[in-house]
Amino acid sequence: MTFSRITGLGYYVPENIVTNNDLTKWMDTSDEWIQERTGIKERRYFEYGKDTNYSMAAAASRQALERAGLTPDDVDVIVYATITPDYFFPGSAFLMQRELRMDGKPVFDIRQQCSGFVYALSIADQFIKSGMYKTALVVGSEIQSSWIDKSTAGRNTAVIFGDGAGAAVVQATQDPNHRILSTHLHADGRFAEDLFVREPGSSRAGRTATTEMIEEGGFNVHMNGNTVFKHAIVRFGEVINEALEANGFQASDVNVLVPHQANIRISDYVRQQMGLSEEQVVNNIQRFGNTTAASIPIAMAEAWEEGRIKEGDLVCLAAFGSGFTWASALIKW
Ligand code: COA
Repeated sequence: MTFSRITGLGYYVPENIVTNNDLTKWMDTSDEWIQERTGIKERRYFEYGKDTNYSMAAAASRQALERAGLTPDDVDVIVYATITPDYFFPGSAFLMQRELRMDGKPVFDIRQQCSGFVYALSIADQFIKSGMYKTALVVGSEIQSSWIDKSTAGRNTAVIFGDGAGAAVVQATQDPNHRILSTHLHADGRFAEDLFVREPGSSRAGRTATTEMIEEGGFNVHMNGNTVFKHAIVRFGEVINEALEANGFQASDVNVLVPHQANIRISDYVRQQMGLSEEQVVNNIQRFGNTTAASIPIAMAEAWEEGRIKEGDLVCLAAFGSGFTWASALIKW
């Protein structure tokens, strides 16, 4: 039987560090407020002219491929998650494919917001298990700093988000002891407008991108923070338990939990519910903020580099985000 396994991880974050105090230049906020509510101390913003969504993804992918001992030629398919693509269309997967000179190879652009990477990993896992492809590059990449509203009006979301990219190489294996055990995906469109950006939408009376739409805030992130928070703390637990039950494990069997970096308070709540130690839960939101689809692969790559994820470990990935979407993956490393 064929399974899939993560054989390489990589990430890229822009050099430009933006601290909470830096944000006070643009909006009425404070380091104390941001740290207390979210845990975030600083985040990275891309450098215009140097970084693009796809170039960051390519840098992360090159590192992941090198660590897997592969080259872009070895990859059969790209699954690329982002909500902040370089163009409205075609997606950034095409641009990264061109950058990595993978002409002719199929690419998928998916959204799925903060759950994007786990959805992308699941897609790769299904393709590999079905035998259609042997090697997939799974990517999450975001540039959020160019569209967040950095005035006081946008402060409830602007302080949360950051830029960066992460990538995983996923390969076919026959080894049942080291593999992705299962993935679990969910969505609930009833809450679509509780965390969303309306424009550039197509279902509009006139052309998209008029000055009025910009002035009315159509391009800004709208978030009902309380609703997101309340759903997140329930769904994280549910989808983690679903993965554990599907494989006959309990929370105490988990060695490492890599949650989407939404908010340190959400991660802490989930950690306590599961009875895990701080060391077992990967948190880097303090340094990178919430990088949406990139957050899990960046956190996973860092944890692997630091030796916190080791062969034989039971690793759980879990995400919640706009849509609403929520998802988990259980991996025997
Ligand atoms: N700096 C200072 N004050 C701020 C602020 C900021 N950046 N953002 C909001 N405030 C103010 C509000 O204006 C409000 O003031 P008021 O009481 O005078 O009206 C007050 O702080 C409380 O706002 P509220 O939105 O109720 O705060 P909160 O305690 O719910 O915390 C979040 C806001 C965003 C941190 C919290 O709702 C949250 O973490 N939600 C989940 C978000 C998330 O994870 N999103 C990503 C999804 S993947």
